[in-house]
Amino acid sequence: MRTEVFQQYESEVRSYCRAFPTVFKRAKGSFIEGEDGRRYLDFFAGAGALNYGHNPDFIRDKLIDYLRDDGIMHALDMYTVAKGEFIQSLQEKILLPRKLDYRVQFCGPTGTNAVEAALKIARKVKGRQNIFAFQGGFHGMTLGSLACTGNQYNRKAAGTVLPNVTFMPYPFGAMEKIDTIAYMDAVLSDPSSGIDKPAAVLLETVQAEGGVVVARVEWLKKLRALCDKHDILMIVDDIQVGCGRTGNFFSFERAGIVPDVITLSKSISGCGLPMSIVLLKPEIDKWSPGEHNGTFRGNQLAFVGGAAALELWTSLDIQGQVEKKARLVESALRSIIEEVDPRLSLRGLGLIWGVDFTVTGDNDLIERVLAKCFEKGLIIENAGRKGQVMKLLPPLTVSESELQQGLDIIRTSMKECF
Ligand SMILES: Cc1ncc(COP(=O)(O)O)c(C=O)c1O
Repeated sequence: MRTEVFQQYESEVRSYCRAFPTVFKRAKGSFIEGEDGRRYLDFFAGAGALNYGHNPDFIRDKLIDYLRDDGIMHALDMYTVAKGEFIQSLQEKILLPRKLDYRVQFCGPTGTNAVEAALKIARKVKGRQNIFAFQGGFHGMTLGSLACTGNQYNRKAAGTVLPNVTFMPYPFGAMEKIDTIAYMDAVLSDPSSGIDKPAAVLLETVQAEGGVVVARVEWLKKLRALCDKHDILMIVDDIQVGCGRTGNFFSFERAGIVPDVITLSKSISGCGLPMSIVLLKPEIDKWSPGEHNGTFRGNQLAFVGGAAALELWTSLDIQGQVEKKARLVESALRSIIEEVDPRLSLRGLGLIWGVDFTVTGDNDLIERVLAKCFEKGLIIENAGRKGQVMKLLPPLTVSESELQQGLDIIRTSMKECF
């Protein structure tokens, strides 16, 4: 199949396919295959939706068994065996061992819907309209989550006001020099600051789309204390960097903090099937029945995949694997930077890493490098405030030799373009 059918009939809104202009057909593990048989190593992993790689045998077989058995496919939010088993495994494998007490809310299938739900419940519980979000943050494309998203290109597309959100500085770039927590404290403590007290602070502990900006542990701890001091809920959006991406299952674990509300999506189903959830402390679960409703809040196959993924989380020791591979990626990227242009900066942890090209002053360079990577068989995307960060997001199950192969492609592509 040629790409004309898409170019002629699919909406102009299509995006990733423009960077990877081939027609894909099959995928396995860390590889995705074009219909022409060409294999690409996937360091994009569905933007973090494929932490267990493509079609992992264990999860795929569970899905096939479920389908063969005529397992229920659609049930609104009725009680089903698949949902019950998912809730049970989330409790037993993730929440209880961490002594975390959360209720689980099933949302519409996309991440943005979980963010909408989190914002709604925070406003309801606290009886306040404002939300503090962070500069550089990304939370989704529907009006509530978009109002909390910094990117101007995306915001403009709303075509309407995006109200009741105040952006606070995330400690990055010029803002790294100021004490952003002290600034927020001053704003909240001054009755004449002109800024309404928020119901919640919404944050990513690692800004992924914002250019792989890793918040320091100390900053996260102080932010938690600030929320407590001013009676504000803390919502951690773990949609991209949760489910093991940073090493721990939840990205905030490294700071030893406990959010009031957590949003999860992307890799929670373990196999790329759409599903999103909100975890709420029981005292915040003040929903009335059906107040946040939706036809597709019960993706049964995603529940089956999700329960299977949590089995893999423990049996494959994903956390241990990520810690080991993180060291390999970090040292390889450092040596590439040293060789190609020592001015470039590197940020990341676990298996999310970003090489920041901003310092080169050549805004098109990153596009050339990514296109070169694709030419050589590697799928990798950019992120960042100005799109200047090459973001590595391989499946967490990637093998060390596959990692090496991808890093070699990055090295030669950069060398050829710089
Ligand atoms: C941190 C974060 N929140 C929310 C979203 C929105 O998720 P979705 O695209 O599934 O609506 C994303 C998507 O990339 C994300 O990275």
